[in-house]
Amino acid sequence: MSPSNVLIAPSILSADFRVLQEEVKSVEPYADWLQADIMDGHFVPNLSFGAPVIKWIETSLPVDVHLMVTNPADRIEEFLDAGAKHITFHAEVVESSEKRRELIKRIRDGGATAGIALNPDTPLSSVDDVLGDVNLLLIMSVNPGFGGQEFIEDVLSKARKAREQHTDLMIQMDGGIDDKTASQCIEAGANNLVSGSYIFRSADRAAAIAALRGQ
Ligand code: DX5
Repeated sequence: MSPSNVLIAPSILSADFRVLQEEVKSVEPYADWLQADIMDGHFVPNLSFGAPVIKWIETSLPVDVHLMVTNPADRIEEFLDAGAKHITFHAEVVESSEKRRELIKRIRDGGATAGIALNPDTPLSSVDDVLGDVNLLLIMSVNPGFGGQEFIEDVLSKARKAREQHTDLMIQMDGGIDDKTASQCIEAGANNLVSGSYIFRSADRAAAIAALRGQ
């Protein structure tokens, strides 16, 4: 995978919420997507924010909603209504192929693209049933719940295997991605990188995003 065609998705979870709209504008010229981490305090130990925040954000970037929630089926329409252009749910909470396909269809019928996510300990084989149906596979490189965590290198082999098996699939990685770990993800086959604290802790957002692209 070459760095030039890698999408960069800043995660607003790490933004300064006192000035969220300004934070979004500060990355808009340089990023490709904007990621919103939706946490229910049940599937993950943290509680973040809901659809109203997405509705109020003004941005030209496609908003990528990462549902870290136990019941994603209950959340699809509200995030579609809020303007989500991409919605990802977790394989760990939707286990039947039928239910996964139903969610993927609802997301797509709502005009968004659909993704399925794997926590670090969840094997790639657990989503063999739907990798031909989704637009994106999200490989978590931290245990979800918080920004600013350490990158888990073991997941790189999962990304490599996914890329070998699915040459055209968008593979997103998320968690602990900075100027040092981004190149490892790209080399493993990821072509969409989510980064929160590295970008939003940087004073120079353009330089931070360029560094993630290997520029
Ligand atoms: C973790 C979230 C990630 C996180 C990324 O649960 O899904 O998107 O916000 O933040 P960093 O890049 O700081 O790990």
